[in-house]
Amino acid sequence: MLLRQRGARWKKQVPAQAESPGIGVDSIMLVEEGFKVTSVDASDKMLKYALKERWNRRHEEAFDKWVIEEANWLTLKKDVSLPAEGGFDAVICLGNSFAHLPDCKGDQSEHKLALKNIAGMVRPGGLLVIDHRNYDHILSTGCAPSGKNIYYKSDLTKDITTSVLTVNNKAHMVTLDYTVQVPGAGQDGSLGLSKFRLSYYPHCLTPFTELLQEAFQGQCQHSVLGDFKPYKPGQSSAPCYFIHVLKKTG
Ligand SMILES: C[S@@+](CC[C@H](N)C(=O)[O-])C[C@H]1O[C@@H](n2cnc3c(N)ncnc32)[C@H](O)[C@@H]1O
Repeated sequence: MLLRQRGARWKKQVPAQAESPGIGVDSIMLVEEGFKVTSVDASDKMLKYALKERWNRRHEEAFDKWVIEEANWLTLKKDVSLPAEGGFDAVICLGNSFAHLPDCKGDQSEHKLALKNIAGMVRPGGLLVIDHRNYDHILSTGCAPSGKNIYYKSDLTKDITTSVLTVNNKAHMVTLDYTVQVPGAGQDGSLGLSKFRLSYYPHCLTPFTELLQEAFQGQCQHSVLGDFKPYKPGQSSAPCYFIHVLKKTG
């Protein structure tokens, strides 16, 4: 997704343009806040959802200008044209999105390629904001941290069952089986629960930081937040999510 600032009140707080892959609530919130946004996703279903939302709200100027493109992180350079400034002011990849990309070859070469492509979308001086679940905690305890999920109404989540697949003694995939209360459901006497399964690559804090540094060829300032709050390694409460903020310096 690409953003361009429109409202003057954002001038001192955020850069003028940004990009972030994945379409959903993040994109819609950014469009609503007056950013000029380009959203990209590889999934037809997500693209269809976003295009429908844009059509329904086309009379709002920001939605009329919202750009929605099909693009894959592995072919981003070909799929998305860079703005004249040489890149976007910010690339935003949140909601544990990047962990959806599996490690098919077992050497993380696809993770490296995707991160290099994503970093290549950021203009010099621009930002990349990218997150992942706290897989360090998940791998050491076998369970997702019990804190509130920062991305959705987590009081609706009734249960998360965690499974870890190990290949050659290395964690290769984490599967989370969610049981969620569906708002308004259950009036017919049923429990009104929805069950779904999502699988992720378990990015841990140190190796993922190294991948990011490599993607920027070391030309970045890097900081980490835990659930969008200052994070100190070894702090008593385990964040649910780590959010990496990188400023491109080269
Ligand atoms: C958690 S969702 C999107 C979250 C988004 N931040 C939001 O507000 O809804 C992750 C998205 O990443 C997309 N995705 C996964 N692998 C991708 C890839 N290789 N290239 C592009 N998009 C991909 C999925 O299709 C999915 O829509």
